Amino acid sequence: MELDVPPLPDGSGSPNPQGDADLLAGNPRYEKIRYLNRGAFGFVVLAHDKQCNDRVALKFIERGPEHINKYVEREIVNHMKLRHPHIIGLREVFLTSTHLVLSMEYAPGGDLFRYVAARRGLPEDEARWFFQQLMIAVDYCHRMGVSSRDIKLENTLVDGSPRPLIKLADFGFSKDANQHSAPTSRVGTPAYLAPEVITNQPGQVYDGKKGDIWSCGVLLYILVTDRYPFRRPGDDAMKPNQKLNVMLQRILRADYSFPADKPLSDGVRDLISRILVQDPDARPTLQGIFTHPWFVEGLNPAALQFNDSIVRESLANQPSPEVLNEVRAIVQEAAKPVAAPAAPQTAPQQPAIPRPDESNRGAYDSLDELVRGAAAESDSFDMR
Ligand SMILES: Nc1ncnc2c1ncn2[C@@H]1O[C@H](COP(=O)(O)OP(=O)(O)O)[C@@H](O)[C@H]1O
Ligand SMILES: [Mg+2]
Repeated sequence: MELDVPPLPDGSGSPNPQGDADLLAGNPRYEKIRYLNRGAFGFVVLAHDKQCNDRVALKFIERGPEHINKYVEREIVNHMKLRHPHIIGLREVFLTSTHLVLSMEYAPGGDLFRYVAARRGLPEDEARWFFQQLMIAVDYCHRMGVSSRDIKLENTLVDGSPRPLIKLADFGFSKDANQHSAPTSRVGTPAYLAPEVITNQPGQVYDGKKGDIWSCGVLLYILVTDRYPFRRPGDDAMKPNQKLNVMLQRILRADYSFPADKPLSDGVRDLISRILVQDPDARPTLQGIFTHPWFVEGLNPAALQFNDSIVRESLANQPSPEVLNEVRAIVQEAAKPVAAPAAPQTAPQQPAIPRPDESNRGAYDSLDELVRGAAAESDSFDMR
């Protein structure tokens, strides 16, 4: 298997240093069922929502200025605007004594990374089925003004249907073109980063939508090959920094090939090779992808009009300014230094100093720093 799969959570383990027992202590609405997984910024727990008598996924983000920054607010505000069958629903946001919590629709199939790794890549027909859904989700986001900037298998969730439906998740790096200026930050996950995002310099802007399309091309390549396009088998012998550096250099050259031992149709090769080109303007638009012969196979033509009415409906039902203000107030509260536990103190307590640049959404000024700072190529991070 080419994809490195972290050990499956055993259902009881938790990265929460306080232990999970009191994560939801005293919460009248939610009851923990089990730990699901963690991402670069939070861990996710399956819980029972007593109010709706339904299962939900709760994403826990630690409180305090070192964890809560502008990306957390954007994640919530942008996610709240998106209501679509192929986007995980965000239900509510609340605080516990230690965490900011996002209550989300639960995807029982887990994420597409594990799904694909367990099957060692997907047959093309199945890959197409997932990719069609993902493109419809991305088209909706882009029409709503939101670019994800972190599209990857780990952020694409699978529901529990016999013919699985996918649900795009994790808007932790998203950008709303209507709310914020054009993207300038080098954020995302190294293996999926577009060349222009890697080379972006302070003061320059790039088109987040075209960067998303590149990431979708990387994702499609992985679906059908069970490999990362810009990694080579020999890379594993390298030190992590060198491994990341050679991968980024290959991305900049769009230097990849199709594995000789995987039979792939000309159609999927053609689509991937049109997307993974250095010049963002030379990549197909979503409309271009929607009319590609490999993409349209087996697709009900009505599916391409699917988003028209959903976009109309979403635009007519955006969260009210009051709701948005309420959410911002919760995030601001979460960003305050967490009260120290009541313990006898021998020395006067130092006030906590906000150090957003040292948060776990770390900042990087150069490619070199990026290489030194990256934890793993498949982890998300911020490279401003
Ligand atoms: N709604 C959900 N249903 C099921 N699993 C989920 C859900 N949300 C997240 N997960 C799991 O938790 C992981 C981390 O969640 P994510 O929102 O991506 O956090 P991060 O911002 O830390 O990357 C995902 O890759 C997925 O495996
Ligand atoms: Mg994630």
